[in-house]
Amino acid sequence: MITSNTPREPGPGRGGAFYDAPQVMERYLQHRHSGVHSPNHVMEEPVLLDELGPVAGLRVLDLGCGDAVIGRTLLAAGCRSYLGIDGSTEMTRAATASLAGTSGRVERMDIEKFSAPPHTFDLIISRLALHYVDDLDAVLSACWSSLSPGGRLLITVVHPVITSHEARQSTKEARTNWVVDNYFHPGARQRNWLGNRVTWYHRTIEDYVTALTRADFALTSLRECAPRHDRFDGDTAEFARRQRVPLFLLLAGSRA
Ligand SMILES: C[S@@+](CC[C@H](N)C(=O)[O-])C[C@H]1O[C@@H](n2cnc3c(N)ncnc32)[C@H](O)[C@@H]1O
Repeated sequence: MITSNTPREPGPGRGGAFYDAPQVMERYLQHRHSGVHSPNHVMEEPVLLDELGPVAGLRVLDLGCGDAVIGRTLLAAGCRSYLGIDGSTEMTRAATASLAGTSGRVERMDIEKFSAPPHTFDLIISRLALHYVDDLDAVLSACWSSLSPGGRLLITVVHPVITSHEARQSTKEARTNWVVDNYFHPGARQRNWLGNRVTWYHRTIEDYVTALTRADFALTSLRECAPRHDRFDGDTAEFARRQRVPLFLLLAGSRA
């Protein structure tokens, strides 16, 4: 159903290959599922769930699915099918384990190679994966083509305030200051993250909105994922720290 026409060109630090470097996936998943200390848990996920709406009966595609834990949640909520794709061998292994015993499926594939026939999906999600992609226009166009009329796209990315510039030398301590610089210079950024070098692509908020509308999506939501107080288990200091800067941007669009 889904086609991959061109050979993969993995490079260290790029896309899914980054997560296959020794210990990266373990460190990522540990951080990702660390409750109050996971920004995903306290900022990104609550807003994503707000925007998701009812999923019963929907055919869902997840681009850059990681360990696909969300797939289990969506299937339990009644979605008709869930397919996750991810470029990392390690992540697809973790996703296969998460989806065991469900009808959910996972394929190892680069997001840039994804295409599917019209009307294949009703909902496409992509959480924190599209800032690894250089040619966003091509990916959004493939998404639009594979959705049914009225189908929805829901994406989160690392916030442009964060992707613009990296000032800190070490990622060992909790961050206490941030610098926004080169904001209007879109393009590749090398980062130190999880003990390795990674390549992210910086775009402004306007770039993301323009890319969505250029791909013919009607923008239905733009959220900056403010921290959700009820997710902090009473840790007021951590809540105050997370109120300082945006970390995630959520965009949603629909296919007319
Ligand atoms: C930050 S993780 C997010 C994983 C998952 N969506 C979540 O929210 O837990 C980014 C994921 O995107 C995948 N990824 C990044 N670039 C990719 C690409 N170009 N093609 C396929 N997968 C990619 C990585 O392998 C990784 O699993």
